[in-house]
Amino acid sequence: SDRPRALSGIQPTAGSFHLGNYLGAIRQYTALQESHDAFYMVVDLHAITVPQDPAVLRANTRLAAAQLLAAGLDPQRCTLFVQSHVPEHAQLGWVMNCITGFGEASRMTQFKDKSAKQGADRTTVGLFTYPVLQVADILLYQADSVPVGEDQRQHVELTRDLAERFNGRFGHTFTVPSPHIVKETAKIYDLQDPSIKMSKSASTTKGLINLLDEPKATAKKVKSAVTDTGSEIVFDAENKPGVSNLLTIFSTLTGTTIGDLEARYTGKGYGALKTDLADVMVDFVTPFRDRTQEFLEDPETLDALLATGAEKARAVAAETLATAYDRIGF
Ligand code: ADP
Ligand code: NA
Repeated sequence: SDRPRALSGIQPTAGSFHLGNYLGAIRQYTALQESHDAFYMVVDLHAITVPQDPAVLRANTRLAAAQLLAAGLDPQRCTLFVQSHVPEHAQLGWVMNCITGFGEASRMTQFKDKSAKQGADRTTVGLFTYPVLQVADILLYQADSVPVGEDQRQHVELTRDLAERFNGRFGHTFTVPSPHIVKETAKIYDLQDPSIKMSKSASTTKGLINLLDEPKATAKKVKSAVTDTGSEIVFDAENKPGVSNLLTIFSTLTGTTIGDLEARYTGKGYGALKTDLADVMVDFVTPFRDRTQEFLEDPETLDALLATGAEKARAVAAETLATAYDRIGF
């Protein structure tokens, strides 16, 4: 294929994906499968950087794949696989560890946040080097474009730095990728605390929209979202972060511009906006849950599809690794 390559990965850790994952990343995965030679993976190697239960991990890996399919990934139009099925990730990961500075890795803010939450004694070396594994994930596929949310920008920057460093030292080997970050949805905020991003680890329970929750419970969360002082429905991220977040979500899920929404709700209160957004959300999550369930009910087909994906991914990854090994002197 002469299309540009895209690569991204998502963790299976939480079970259900949340609305931030969907709007910030997964929506872009489905868009890029039309224009790119796209590779998407469930990153189970990353999932073991924190304590995990084997049975839960196995179930959540399938669940993650089912959700990606439910969100619209089409195995005919992209390569969908599980990271641990392609051993080249760990192999190139080691190589990348060996050209990364300790100080450089220490500056990764995602690591600092996550290790602060774990505490020093429980933080693993795997967590420390996971951004470097992510570098290998991307470079193995010679990706041009990496669809992610804003919180991953620094890791794509690290990927660019390490690709250039390796290329400079050993001769051109890796494509230097760019992040594909859609500004409007790059950071979806917690519905109860719009000063923090929606996240499985940091969000408030009531402010986290899990896509697989009961639609009724989700509607309730939307209706009780925190809004701001005043009553006007206008997009103003600085002074009205709560309302602005709701407008972003509404606009993206319905394809209505923010301007049209502002006009529609002129003179109406926050309650009207939240009631309507609750309906929009229910219309979105209900078929998503049903489709996810359908994929889970047929585990043989799901596993076969992931095996085919791994085979396709491996062909590309093995070629890149062989070149890198040769350049290094292996
Ligand atoms: P989390 O951030 O909840 O731990 P992941 O690290 O698995 O979830 O993130 C998967 C993808 O979703 C990444 O590309 C990440 O940038 C994106 N993402 C996560 N949270 C948000 C958010 N609140 N807004 C936009 N994108 C997000
Ligand atoms: Na993240």
